[in-house]
Amino acid sequence: MCEIPDKLLVTCAFPYANGPIHLGHMLEHIQADIWVRYQRMRNKIVYFICADDAHGTPIMINARKLNCNPEEIIITINNEHQNDFSNFFISYDNYYSTHSEENKFFLELIYNKLKKKGFIKKRIISQFFDLEKNIFLPDRFIKGTCPKCKSKDQYGDNCEVCGITYNPTELINLRSVISNSIPIIRNSEHFFFDLPFFSNILLLWINSGVIQKQVVNKIKEWFDSGLKEWDITRDAPYFGFKIPDTIDKFFYVWFDASIGYMSTFKNLCDKKNINFDEFWNKNSKLGIYHFIGKDIVYFHSLFLPSILDGSDYRKPTKLFVHGYLTINGKKMSKSRGTFITASFYLKYFDPDCLRYYFATKLSSNIEDIDLNFNEFIYRINSDIVNKVVNLASRTANFISKYFNGFLSSNLIDPVLYQDFINKEKIIGEYYSSRNYSKVIREIINLTDISNNYIDKKSPWKILKEKGEVQELQDVCTMGINFFRVLSTYLKPVLPGLNKRIELFLNIELLWDEINFPLLNHKINKFKPLFNRINIFQINKIFNTSKNI
Ligand code: MSP
Ligand code: ZN
Repeated sequence: MCEIPDKLLVTCAFPYANGPIHLGHMLEHIQADIWVRYQRMRNKIVYFICADDAHGTPIMINARKLNCNPEEIIITINNEHQNDFSNFFISYDNYYSTHSEENKFFLELIYNKLKKKGFIKKRIISQFFDLEKNIFLPDRFIKGTCPKCKSKDQYGDNCEVCGITYNPTELINLRSVISNSIPIIRNSEHFFFDLPFFSNILLLWINSGVIQKQVVNKIKEWFDSGLKEWDITRDAPYFGFKIPDTIDKFFYVWFDASIGYMSTFKNLCDKKNINFDEFWNKNSKLGIYHFIGKDIVYFHSLFLPSILDGSDYRKPTKLFVHGYLTINGKKMSKSRGTFITASFYLKYFDPDCLRYYFATKLSSNIEDIDLNFNEFIYRINSDIVNKVVNLASRTANFISKYFNGFLSSNLIDPVLYQDFINKEKIIGEYYSSRNYSKVIREIINLTDISNNYIDKKSPWKILKEKGEVQELQDVCTMGINFFRVLSTYLKPVLPGLNKRIELFLNIELLWDEINFPLLNHKINKFKPLFNRINIFQINKIFNTSKNI
């Protein structure tokens, strides 16, 4: 296990500001939030940040369609995104935007440093241009017939039907996606970042254990074919930040988005009086952890660290890469009804259900994860309702009814209790290494042991058959103590349920305190803690999601 520093900055990739948050995004934010909540429970100082990725051509075109300014759109979207994340209990310290003063400041600072050191080069390139709309066309805004399989309406860089990649010039019957006119080729001067210069520095960094092995192998393939200079320019019209000393050139959205990690943190530092340089100076040993999907590894493993190195900042401590979410075995897609937005999901289910389900599936590898709704129902009802919550409901009522809510002052099975406490180390390690499926396996195993214990002791028989009041209190106290330890272990995964449990147990659940059993302590009356879910809720999602 790698040592984790005492102070951490944790980020998720910035969602684009041109669409809603969907369950695929949620996989990443939930994975990161569980990790953050665990680290906070272990007394680390954690700053958890994210922002909207606000710039780029799609947002500008969207704004044109809606006849408004991109600035207005990104404010509305930012509010929606923040709402979605807080409804899923994602515990951000700051959720900002790349369209900010701070981002412009750092962008220009870094660009000027890179330029001064000779890492920015100028070259003339030819690009497709839409004469009707007066705009250079990125590959995604060009379509045509695939030169190989002849499928119609394929995008400028690859064919979704036969899978080949090509140069947009090879497409047959080439058209602009925006106006359907035939684009012409026009020259323009662009600025390139000298990525190949950083090859050795990058290789050294990548080989130092900052990324999962599976991912490193993929990255090495990019080195085999040689790194290429990176075009960081986009011509006007573009929604973004202008490149200094130019009239009509803007920074490519990925350039300013990468710098957004710094500027979003800077905004937090200014609000909360946190030391920015302590995290970002070249020799900083504090932790910077980025949670990202496997589709954006290129940007985070090559561009981001070389921009940082070239401008004399430190590089990330780790990139935590995850796979993609599929729904009932299929890619998320609007036409199949498997494109489920975060806010749509919340109309039917508790956020904790998704958090729990993802936890049962997540590990540190980059395999895709399937949200299978039958399994989803089973996991929630069987694990959370029938096992975890049931443990409290079957013992708490006796404590309220016969003992005025007081637990016994006596722990009758300290050895068994110690077994539960001993699991703390391994569960902690699984959290730290993002092996949440193993965390859950351990916890459910302990839950089974607890429930078997209660079955065997059968508190419901003790009074009737033996009239032993003390024994009844002792057995139920064991049950509640098991429940308290399990709930503490589960706390990073289920913040909503956790709040209700803390109210019921009348304590804050703290990792450091599980060594001390709850004795002679007054708990509150048990109220149902978690609702069973059913197939009708699922059917509603699928019958309606086609229309969103
Ligand atoms: N804006 C860029 C990131 C810039 S970071 C400086 C971007 N945005 S995105 O909205 O397309 O994706 C944001 C994150 O969500 C990425 O890490 C991406 O991998 C993740 N996911 C998007 N769809 C996903 C799934 N279906 N499944 C899992 N993660 C997914 O990329
Ligand atoms: Zn094809």
